[in-house]
Amino acid sequence: MAILDTGLGETLLDEETIRAEVSRLAAQISADYADKTLHLVGVLKGAAVFLADLLRALSIPATMDFISIVPYGQVTASGVVRIRKDLDEPLEGRDVLVVEGICASGLSLSYLLRNFQTRGPASIKTCAFVAKRRVRPADVTLDYVGREIPDVFVVGYGLDAQERYRNLPYIARLP
Ligand code: IMP
Ligand code: MG
Repeated sequence: MAILDTGLGETLLDEETIRAEVSRLAAQISADYADKTLHLVGVLKGAAVFLADLLRALSIPATMDFISIVPYGQVTASGVVRIRKDLDEPLEGRDVLVVEGICASGLSLSYLLRNFQTRGPASIKTCAFVAKRRVRPADVTLDYVGREIPDVFVVGYGLDAQERYRNLPYIARLP
């Protein structure tokens, strides 16, 4: 039988810590958008698990949409990406929160912010459940961060290594 956590290294964020961080973020976001309806835009697939938890922890009205992007020719360092699945709905006039499972170089977020700004949102902010301690492009600001982690490869809680480990309920290092 295949064991879910075979080959994993140390746990960086256990289930209890994740629950606490989601609650903290949701309380802060609910307060900041107290009189608004928040439009969550999840970056597939890594944000799916976190977004589902965050959505249920918010105490304000919220809607959601998803986008899927793929780096051109795997040349991630160029910051050139292609939209594989675009948003279903317009962003015009909406208070948008872009939700990422993890922010590493920040190039994905940099592209998405530039793209989304052209769609006329009322406001746009960013949220990453996990952010690697790295230098990011000047135009990328993370408004809400669950936890900062060292610049190591991690899996679980929606994050994968070749599509594996997304269903792990905690975040662990991949050695
Ligand atoms: P970026 O470097 O901030 O543009 O992140 C690009 C994407 O790489 C993220 O949305 C994740 O899908 C993926 N990624 C980066 N670091 C990790 C990691 O440690 N584990 C799993 N996926 C990662
Ligand atoms: Mg991945």
